[in-house]
Amino acid sequence: MRKLKVILLEAPLELAPKGWKYGPLIDKRYHYHYLSKYSRKWKRGRPDIVHFVMLLMLDSILNMKGHLELYVHVIDGRVFAVRNDERLPKHFDAFKQIMAQLLEHERVPLEGEPLMWKAYDSLSDFVKEHGKIILFWEKGEPATFERVAKEALDEGLPVGIGLFPRGDFERSTLRKAAKAYSVMGGVPLKAWTVAYELLCSTERLLGLC
Ligand SMILES: C[S@@+](CC[C@H](N)C(=O)[O-])C[C@H]1O[C@@H](n2cnc3c(N)ncnc32)[C@H](O)[C@@H]1O
Repeated sequence: MRKLKVILLEAPLELAPKGWKYGPLIDKRYHYHYLSKYSRKWKRGRPDIVHFVMLLMLDSILNMKGHLELYVHVIDGRVFAVRNDERLPKHFDAFKQIMAQLLEHERVPLEGEPLMWKAYDSLSDFVKEHGKIILFWEKGEPATFERVAKEALDEGLPVGIGLFPRGDFERSTLRKAAKAYSVMGGVPLKAWTVAYELLCSTERLLGLC
C-alpha cells in the first residue's frame, strides 16, 4: 500500500518545570512571563498547534484508509511515532495530559500495545531509517502541493512541516532535508493550512476522494 510519511517538525511540546502553575505542558497562554527568560521563546509553548494538526492528520480520509504514517519530532529532538488508529483526545486539557505522559514515559498508554511511543532519540536517527526529508519551507524551490505529494509517494521519503508558531527551522533540521519546497510564492502559511492541502492533494493522487 502506498503511504505518505509525514513528520511534524520542532513541535512546541515540552514539560513545564516543577513549580510552574497550570502545567503539565509549557503553554504560552499561561506561561508567557516564565518563557521570557527562555531562549527561542517565540518557537515554544504552543501545544494547541500540535493538537490541531494532529487531529487534522489522524481524522483525515488519508489516515482512515491507511495511507498515512505520522511522526512527531519535538523541540528536545526526540521523535515519536503515532499509530494510525490512535484516537487523540478532542478536548485540549485531555490532550495536554496525554502528551505530558508521552514526554515523560515515552509511551502511551503506559501498559499494553502503545498508541504513541518514542521511536527515535533524534532526527538524525529518524533520517537514517526513513531517508532525508522533503521539507515544506518558505524559502525552498517553488512547487505545488501536488508535486510535493507525488514526489513523497513515489520516492517513499517523509514530508516535513514545521509546527513552531514563528521563526525558521533550526540549521540542524534544514540539514536533514533532501529537498525543500515553497508553495504559494513562499507566503507564510499556517502549519494546518499546509497540512490540509498536503492531505487533500495526496488523497486526490491516490483516488480516495
Ligand atoms: C507557521 S509556519 C512556521 C512559522 C513561520 N515561519 C512564521 O514565522 O510565521 C509553519 C510551517 O508551514 C510550512 N510553510 C508555511 N508556509 C509555507 C510556504 N509558503 N511554503 C512552504 N512551506 C510553508 C513550513 O514547514 C513552516 O515551518
